[in-house]
Amino acid sequence: MTADATPWYRTAAEMSKAGIDLYPVTERVAAKVADRSSGRLRGAAERARILADPGFGRYFTDHMVRADWTADGGWGEPELVDFDPIPLDPASMFIHYGQSIFEGLKAYRHGSGELMAFRPEANAVRFHRSATRLAMAELPEDLFLGAVEAIVRADAAWIADDPEKSLYLRPFQFATEVGLGVRPAGSYTFLLIASPAGAYFPRGVKPVSVWLSTEFVRAAPGGTGEAKCSGNYAASLIAQAHAAEQGCDQVVWLDAVERRWVEEMGGMNLVFVYGSGASARLVTPELTGTLLPGITRDSLVKLARHLGIPAEEGRISIEDWQAGNASGEISEVFACGTAAVVTPVGTVKSADAEWMVGDGQPGPVTMRLREALLDIQTGRTEDPFGWVHRIA
Ligand SMILES: Cc1ncc(COP(=O)(O)O)c(C=O)c1O
Repeated sequence: MTADATPWYRTAAEMSKAGIDLYPVTERVAAKVADRSSGRLRGAAERARILADPGFGRYFTDHMVRADWTADGGWGEPELVDFDPIPLDPASMFIHYGQSIFEGLKAYRHGSGELMAFRPEANAVRFHRSATRLAMAELPEDLFLGAVEAIVRADAAWIADDPEKSLYLRPFQFATEVGLGVRPAGSYTFLLIASPAGAYFPRGVKPVSVWLSTEFVRAAPGGTGEAKCSGNYAASLIAQAHAAEQGCDQVVWLDAVERRWVEEMGGMNLVFVYGSGASARLVTPELTGTLLPGITRDSLVKLARHLGIPAEEGRISIEDWQAGNASGEISEVFACGTAAVVTPVGTVKSADAEWMVGDGQPGPVTMRLREALLDIQTGRTEDPFGWVHRIA
């Protein structure tokens, strides 16, 4: 982080309140990445076996992109290298003090054979903001895009010719300086790895059950909730385990202060559908600084408005949620994020209540938005927003 970088930082919550688009479509400049890979590739038979049933995050492709930053030299040249283990000094600062951030996005092969990534510019912006919040060196956005393009090109054979399958890209950055002093590190490594991903719902879309967590909070005001840093996920695991003990699939986070305002669900944002048919409208919890400004959330709000469905940010309490479902005012609730795109919420459980959302089945607005977004991502329809980043 440079000394003058911090004043640049405004929280996503402040920007959103000021009506500033967090993820505008911008000009795309991709840095050049030098190919230093050895040419070592997995055989076609092994790749085909993996691609037949890749699951999620289990297998990795042949390459990765790497760039290193030092306080003296800034960012070095990004390189495409073989996917290999990396040597680790036990005193590397990220292990001890957690300066570690990441992103998640997907690349697809369209029916035409063309390769594309979905809104990588938005992930580059969020990565930059996460770095600023964690007092880490910020990766220039052209370097982020260059890395995305380089790995998709190099590992194109890992992107199945099937709209249900994608290549999940995982960019991440961590502090590599060796030492135990608590301060921002003087060196960082950026890596981008890729993992083939299968259909999230191979047997049809299935609603999830959620547990409203009043005993654990994910993030507090002024903390790191809107950054995509590893520590947020470590802090969430006990609550997810607790939700599972209650027989629920996922945990829903409430605000840290009053423990009654709905924030997000596990690793996904939440959207509430009020009304139905022609009078349906969407409300998604406003950005407060404690929830992640999801790129799928942003896409669905813009897409809904484009389809004539009003969509706004708002505050929804657990009492509003329960009463809204009881009266029918809230007809559907869904979660959204890169991995599953859109997941309906079927049932809600808390320490003192349990209720169903609608009839517990995927609702029509949820499914319409899910299809419309997938159509754009997989190239089945034109992209009127400029979100599809083609990779030649
Ligand atoms: C905590 C959290 N909220 C929301 C999201 C959804 O964000 P996106 O739509 O950018 O994947 C994610 C996933 O990245 C997440 O980890």
